[in-house]
Formats: sequence, structure tokens, C-alpha cells
Amino acid sequence: MELSKSHKGREHEIAELFMATFSASEGTDEGQLIGDLASGLLRETPAEDLYVFTALADNVLIGAIFFSRLRFDGDPRTVFVLAPVAVKTDQQGQGVGQRLLSFGLEALRGEGVDIALTYGDPNYYSKVGFRQITETDVPAPFTLNHPEGWLGQSLTDQPLGSVTGPSRCVAALNDPAFW
Ligand SMILES: CC(C)(COP(=O)(O)OP(=O)(O)OC[C@H]1O[C@@H](n2cnc3c(N)ncnc32)[C@H](O)[C@@H]1OP(=O)(O)O)[C@@H](O)C(=O)NCCC(=O)NCCS
Repeated sequence: MELSKSHKGREHEIAELFMATFSASEGTDEGQLIGDLASGLLRETPAEDLYVFTALADNVLIGAIFFSRLRFDGDPRTVFVLAPVAVKTDQQGQGVGQRLLSFGLEALRGEGVDIALTYGDPNYYSKVGFRQITETDVPAPFTLNHPEGWLGQSLTDQPLGSVTGPSRCVAALNDPAFW
């Protein structure tokens, strides 16, 4: 397996991966929604506000993760939110997701990103350093439907603590359906 910081030329393959993976795990409506989200993130997000990391096997895409910028009006730290994440259905449960997440987080650290956030299953994301946070300490762009899934980690030697909002996400994520 090869992990890559580049996704150029794979935009269509990435959107297909998200659509197929989420259709298989959550049904076709969710597959469409997340496939469209992946396309929208790739199409609409300024390069400086987006990181996409990919996992390849024999030059075929088997996993992809997105980090997009979250701006906090009252805080100068650099914050990126991880979403969405997919590993090809027939490749799941073999460590691809965790290796890709660790690779992406390390790359962000190297780029000087201060904080990574995500919104998902605490049992899974705690394996790569995320801890539960509150909307009071770290305001989300929308009121969260599942506040127990609001997670974060500091990528520096400083504690995450609280981050002063309000926060603003990139355009493709700027829809309460994702929060
Ligand atoms: C969630 C997902 C990215 C995990 O990737 P993966 O490569 O299958 O996971 P890994 O093999 O790296 O990790 C496996 C470990 O995580 C656990 N795990 C996998 N999916 C999990 C989930 N949804 N919730 C909790 N734990 C999970 C496994 O039990 C396993 O634990 P272990 O290491 O203690 O045995 C992948 O299964 C996937 O794409 N699922 C469908 C889409 C999705 O739900 N994406 C995440 C929401 S954005």
C-alpha cells in the first residue's frame, strides 16, 4: 500500500469511492450525499484550505481522507476538520484507515497546523489521538446533532484547551445536514 499527499487527477475516482463506500455502509441516499460532498470539496475549496490524503494499492485508490480549514474568529491558531473518511468496502478492517489517518495527521503537523477536529465515532477516532470535546470549548459551525461525536486533538505541544469562535467552515461543508 502507498500513502500519498497528492490527489491530482484522481478527483473522479475519489468521489466514486465515497459514493460507493457510504452507499454500502449507510444506504444510497447517504452515498449520494457524501459522494457529492467529496466532489464539492474538491471543486470549490481553495487549495490553501484543503488537504486530501489517499491510500493506493497497485495504483488503485482504496482510501481517502479530507481535512478542510475551520476559521475561528477569535483565535489565531490554524485548525482543520477531518471529514469525510472512506476505505473501500472490501479493504476495511485491515488497518488502512488508521494508517492513512496517522499519515495525514503527521503531514498536518509538518505543515504547522495547530489543531485537528473531527465529527464521528469516538471509539474509532480515539485510536489516532482524538478526544471528545464540547461545543462550549470549541464552537462548531452549526449546532451538532450528535455532540458526543465532536472530537479534537492538539498537533503541537500546547493543550487544545478552548478555541474562541464563532467558527466558519469551507463552503462545501456549510450545510447543517453534515453537522
Ligand atoms: C470507518 C472506516 C474509515 C475505517 O477504516 P478501516 O480501514 O476499515 O479501519 P482500520 O482497519 O484502520 O481500523 C480497524 C479498527 O477500527 C475499528 N473500527 C472500524 N470501523 C469502525 C467504526 N465505524 N466504529 C468504530 N470502530 C471501528 C475496528 O473494530 C478495528 O479495531 P481494532 O483495531 O481494535 O481491531 C471504514 O470502515 C469506512 O470507510 N467505513 C464506511 C464509511 C465511514 O463510516 N466513514 C467514517 C465516517 S466519516
